[in-house]
Amino acid sequence: MENKQLNKQELRSSKLNKESFKKLNRNNIVIVLDSLKVAHNIGTIFRMSDAVLAKKVYLCGDTITPPNYKIRKSSVGAERWIDWEYTESIEDLIKELKSKNSLIISAEVSSNSIDFSKYNSFLNDNLDKSKDIVLIFGREYDGVSKEALELSDLTVHLPIYGMSNSLNVSTVASVLIYKTLEYINSN
Ligand SMILES: C[S@@+](CC[C@H](N)C(=O)[O-])C[C@H]1O[C@@H](n2cnc3c(N)ncnc32)[C@H](O)[C@@H]1O
Repeated sequence: MENKQLNKQELRSSKLNKESFKKLNRNNIVIVLDSLKVAHNIGTIFRMSDAVLAKKVYLCGDTITPPNYKIRKSSVGAERWIDWEYTESIEDLIKELKSKNSLIISAEVSSNSIDFSKYNSFLNDNLDKSKDIVLIFGREYDGVSKEALELSDLTVHLPIYGMSNSLNVSTVASVLIYKTLEYINSN
């Protein structure tokens, strides 16, 4: 059979209408952005959160919020399709999410972060699949805040074998969000 790229019209016709879309079951993934200042990263993460049908995106502290022209350019409007909320205190938010037994995971290179290769087995041992997995991503310059790291059940890092100290936050989000989705969809 011919393998061809679908054009915009073909892609659109494969989509649900807005009302049916709103009724879809969402995945137990919650995204928390800890004072992100680069609109491109925020938009990219919105777009990805919509793609995986995440439950919610929280924008905390100094994170730039929609409406914002630069967010919109990289999100291609995805913030319209996903529930999001601004909350000033990430500490209060995490405490509230923990009270609902969500599993709190920070993406960061820290003194006790585990290597990404062990992420799957951590989820195997610790995740109740009926609960939410909360993924926290940190600010472009100084990373996930100390308060958030201390409240996390796990900090996970993507190994860097080269000379750089860190990766772009939306690159890390792509890897972790899709890995988490893969885990949720596995038996
Ligand atoms: C550019 S980094 C923050 C700067 C970093 N703390 C530094 O000073 O080198 C922005 C965010 O991207 C994510 N990040 C970057 N590199 C990462 C890695 N290797 N593993 C996990 N998360 C990473 C984290 O969420 C981090 O808070």
